[in-house]
Amino acid sequence: MAPVITCIEDLRRIYKRVTPTMFYDYCETGSYTEQTFRENVTDFGKLRFRQRVAVDMSNRSLKSTMLGQEVAMPVGLSPVGSTGMQRADGEIKAAKAARDYGVPFALSTMSICSMEAVAEATQAPFWYQLYVMRDEEFVNGAIDRAKACGVSALIVTLDLQILGQRHKDLINGLSAPPRPTLSAIADLSTRWRWGIEMLGTRNRTFGNIVGHAKDVGNLSSLTSWANEQFDPRLDWDKVARLRDRWGGKLILKGILDAEDARKAVELGADAIIVSNHGGRQLDGALSTIRVLPSIVREVKGEVEIWLDSGIRTGQDILKALALGADATMVGRAYVYGLGAMGQRGVTKALDVLKGEIDITMALCGHRDIREVDRDILLVPEDFEGRWAAPDGANRAN
Ligand code: GLV
Repeated sequence: MAPVITCIEDLRRIYKRVTPTMFYDYCETGSYTEQTFRENVTDFGKLRFRQRVAVDMSNRSLKSTMLGQEVAMPVGLSPVGSTGMQRADGEIKAAKAARDYGVPFALSTMSICSMEAVAEATQAPFWYQLYVMRDEEFVNGAIDRAKACGVSALIVTLDLQILGQRHKDLINGLSAPPRPTLSAIADLSTRWRWGIEMLGTRNRTFGNIVGHAKDVGNLSSLTSWANEQFDPRLDWDKVARLRDRWGGKLILKGILDAEDARKAVELGADAIIVSNHGGRQLDGALSTIRVLPSIVREVKGEVEIWLDSGIRTGQDILKALALGADATMVGRAYVYGLGAMGQRGVTKALDVLKGEIDITMALCGHRDIREVDRDILLVPEDFEGRWAAPDGANRAN
């Protein structure tokens, strides 16, 4: 009998059971002590809703826009590296689910299926997330390929010039495809459906890189490859050059500070993603939901503000919107569904989130997602924190 899926956590439990440990761990980890990874989730729990009654709840709408594009709800699928290792052809499956649902899909530079393969399979526009590599020819080529694939917006990720250390990936010897060590073989023997599906596809290594970048050394080790290839010199001038070469809609991902949000606006970004990379980069940084209000105060109305990191429920999404985000992005929440049930699982994850947003919005007395504001929330007075400035004076972050 098919399992009853009530929430994203149900999908995570199935995903864990059917996916090779090294890829489950790759997804379900943060850097170092994982403090930021955990707090991204638990800080949502510090916000409470105000229940309102005797309000007409008929004809509710979750429709909104992202970059001027109509979306079924203000939720996009974040770029996630190695998605095609979570399930065979994972990026194509997720992109198709997003297309059919009416929400945006973003493809990572570190995807397994190439942008050309996704474009051909979906016949629909998607977004491409660029990691800036030392090899400029590769970067320029990737931008040109994205244009040729009909990519409708470029996401430049700013918080991963060097890779945060994730202990589990080192211990597991993370690679794509997995190296046939004894422990990997023992693990895979209990995940036979994953293996059979993988044998049925040719997409088994980083499709956006192989054949496009020079001197591709040990690509199977994401950690060592990132350390060799990602450009540590990435700065705002370089981002401006990328903006000019691309010439289309630009999204800057990895903004976690109001001063950087201001710089993104000055650079002409169309949207920023308030993100700490799901707690995978700077451990000890604040959760995204805690920094969101300071960024909203700085740049609301000048650029679209989206939030990712830590979203596991539709209620989290509603809280982010209430605190001023224009939209949200989810990574793990859809990967759990993909790993658990393939394309159907991504659709299921979106259904779960949509249902939770809808019912919670109604019980807070609203019918239109675009009208939800801070009024639906109870926010602890110290939610943003009072942090000492360098001169010792107190300051809100
Ligand atoms: C890549 O984006 C990663 O976080 O591993």
